Amino acid sequence: MELVKLQLDAPFAVVTIDRPECLNALSSQVYREMIAILRQVEAMDEIRVVILTGAGEKAFAAGADIAQMVGENAIAGRRLSGLCHETADLLENMRQVTIAAVNGYALGGGCELTLACDLRLASENARFALPEVSLGIIPGGGGTQRLARLIGVGRAKEMIFTGDQIDAQEAYRMGLVNHVVPRDQLMSACRALGEKIVSRSGYAVALAKSAVNSSMDIDRRNGAEREKDLLGLAFATRDKQEGMEAFLARRTPQFEDF
Ligand code: HXC
Repeated sequence: MELVKLQLDAPFAVVTIDRPECLNALSSQVYREMIAILRQVEAMDEIRVVILTGAGEKAFAAGADIAQMVGENAIAGRRLSGLCHETADLLENMRQVTIAAVNGYALGGGCELTLACDLRLASENARFALPEVSLGIIPGGGGTQRLARLIGVGRAKEMIFTGDQIDAQEAYRMGLVNHVVPRDQLMSACRALGEKIVSRSGYAVALAKSAVNSSMDIDRRNGAEREKDLLGLAFATRDKQEGMEAFLARRTPQFEDF
């Protein structure tokens, strides 16, 4: 791939948006490459955690490519939005855990990609914004949907209506990021968190991800039914037997299913 790089280091896959000369601006080609890579990674049994980041010192991604969008019509805008959504939906729903390693600007479509990840770790220089209204458009990669669910409708509307940037500490206070770490520790912090998750039952984590995601999409009663079904499924795994027997025997479990 040209603009998105994949580095495999099982159980981790590191996906890097690689256009540092334009702050990793997200052209339709970037989105297409990301979709192809995420589909490929989703099929890899040995990969349990996907870390998404941006190349260079300044940006995770400074949004959709304005130089591309400036000449495009409504049909192309809708198509681009479709690509943004497809990428975000893959990150949100893939069986692996996805972590955004936010190493600088995460603006517009870049911010939206972080919102679609399961977890967000930010370096101290990270900055978040949905500045689309300053360009005469609106967020188009799920930002109007996911941001409100994550930080509440009031705060989401303020961010979206003003387009203002918030720094990493403010993002942490709002619950937009899970942790803030020094720049040089960002990837190691992502890996440490990933290692901890990998030490748990992979199948249970995947079921839990699916159950939590349901809470975003369906009403509480049906979500509760889904949780019951998924817990029943967890009871059918070897991991459940191993996890509980290991607890009772006071030993470390050896999980297998995934
Ligand atoms: C294209 C971009 C870009 C972008 C930066 N660049 N962001 N090119 N699309 N989104 C380019 C600049 O043109 C410049 O190229 C180079 O990257 C460095 O950027 P500078 O502006 O010179 O850097 P700096 O002064 O440090 O400012 C950084 C910045 C600013 C604050 C991040 O670049 C900025 O505001 N960028 C745009 C952010 C934005 O509005 N994003 C939302 C896009 S809309 P040259 O060639 O001059 O060196 C969106 C919608 C998603 O994401 C949904 C669509 C369907």
